[in-house]
Amino acid sequence: MMHKFAQAVELESNPHAVGESYVAQIPRISIQAFCETAELSHAVQSAAADRRMAKAHVKVQMGGIVAAIEAYTGAPTPNVILIEHNGSGTELIDGLDKLSECCDAGTKVVIVGRLNDIVLYRELVRRGISDYVMSPLSALDVVRSVSNLFNAPDAEPVGRVIAVIGAKGGVGASTVAHNVAFSIARDLALDTVIADLDLPFGTAGLDFNQDPPQGIADAVFSPDRVDSAYIDRLLSKCTDHLSLLASPATLEREYDFSGESFDPVIDAMRSSIPYIVLDLPHLWTGWAKRTLIGADEVLLVTTPDLASLRNAKNLFDFVRSARPNDRPPLYLLNQVGVPKRPEVRAVDFAKALDAQPIAAIPFDPQIFGTAANNGQMIAEVNPANKISETFLGVAKALTGRAEAKKEKTDFLSPLLAKLRGLKK
Ligand SMILES: Nc1ncnc2c1ncn2[C@@H]1O[C@H](COP(=O)(O)OP(=O)(O)OP(=O)(O)O)[C@@H](O)[C@H]1O
Ligand SMILES: [Mg+2]
Repeated sequence: MMHKFAQAVELESNPHAVGESYVAQIPRISIQAFCETAELSHAVQSAAADRRMAKAHVKVQMGGIVAAIEAYTGAPTPNVILIEHNGSGTELIDGLDKLSECCDAGTKVVIVGRLNDIVLYRELVRRGISDYVMSPLSALDVVRSVSNLFNAPDAEPVGRVIAVIGAKGGVGASTVAHNVAFSIARDLALDTVIADLDLPFGTAGLDFNQDPPQGIADAVFSPDRVDSAYIDRLLSKCTDHLSLLASPATLEREYDFSGESFDPVIDAMRSSIPYIVLDLPHLWTGWAKRTLIGADEVLLVTTPDLASLRNAKNLFDFVRSARPNDRPPLYLLNQVGVPKRPEVRAVDFAKALDAQPIAAIPFDPQIFGTAANNGQMIAEVNPANKISETFLGVAKALTGRAEAKKEKTDFLSPLLAKLRGLKK
């Protein structure tokens, strides 16, 4: 009796104090399970209905590791792949080696099995497997295993921030940001938020035909209240995997932000949303500069003219020297081929910036105008149009969902990388 009472008090005052039994919320990730038994399939399905999984997208299928390899040869991988394997250890290792060839960087792999074998376990660690869980598993065991991947003290944040900025005003930076985010969400099936950082004039709401009553201003003006649950309430849903943190786009207030004003919002999003696309206005303020430096990836949108070339070069050099240990920003040329307009050539951009553009998007007032006026993306106006393929290519380059497959990679997780280092 005494014991129970003491426990209850502890639970009340600090739910985290119950240690092992506390399972934290799971971020907006995509999970695909490849089961061999009906038991695990049921457990994953009921895990998907658990309150802690409310934000995650879960897909369950049968077929184990063979089905997983088949599914991902030529298709992007989700945030987490859960594989049940009841066969031999050798089969598992062989299968994982095949899977690693088609697995994107950043995807975590969890194995569920019955083998309790230290040699096998070491082999799995060497391959960067995030977890090996012994079956049978209850629904809560599944939730706990996934939760641990993201909530362990040394887990890296789930979110990657992509900042999109124009070399000049009106070059199409927002249009590109929105279409690329749409493609990450739809074609790569990864949860994405577009944050419109152009508070007085942003167009994300218009472009997605949304007019939400709340958005980014609520968060920036009340930094003390911001956490991932607060951000969730400010998001408006555009498609299955895409949400919008809209700008007010009104002039009632003045928006004189200090350098760190956007930090709490961006940090909160990073803790729970896999991809965050920041639609930056063409500005050079303390916060804009800080946001660019702090992003995981930078995409610069430019038009083929001299002023854009100069600005692109300055922005490029700035970002490169401020982030010497990151890959340089990516850039693309937009509105190429305006009739009768002389242009600075792509080769001249490549020479000045010492990098090739990742895409060149033609000037097409018909399709872009239709999209803007209808509040649609290019892929919605005309799915067959080549420009939507270009946006998919940019989406892949920014998320690393393309290059990862060229080389043989493993599913390296930070914790296991350390273990690996120790073993050598
Ligand atoms: N490739 C293109 N061909 C034709 N029109 C385009 C193209 N790209 C963008 N546009 C149009 O150019 C206009 C400006 O685009 P957008 O608002 O995306 O630019 P921006 O760089 O974000 O501008 P701002 O400096 O105001 O933030 C929009 O009307 C858009 O539809
Ligand atoms: Mg814009």
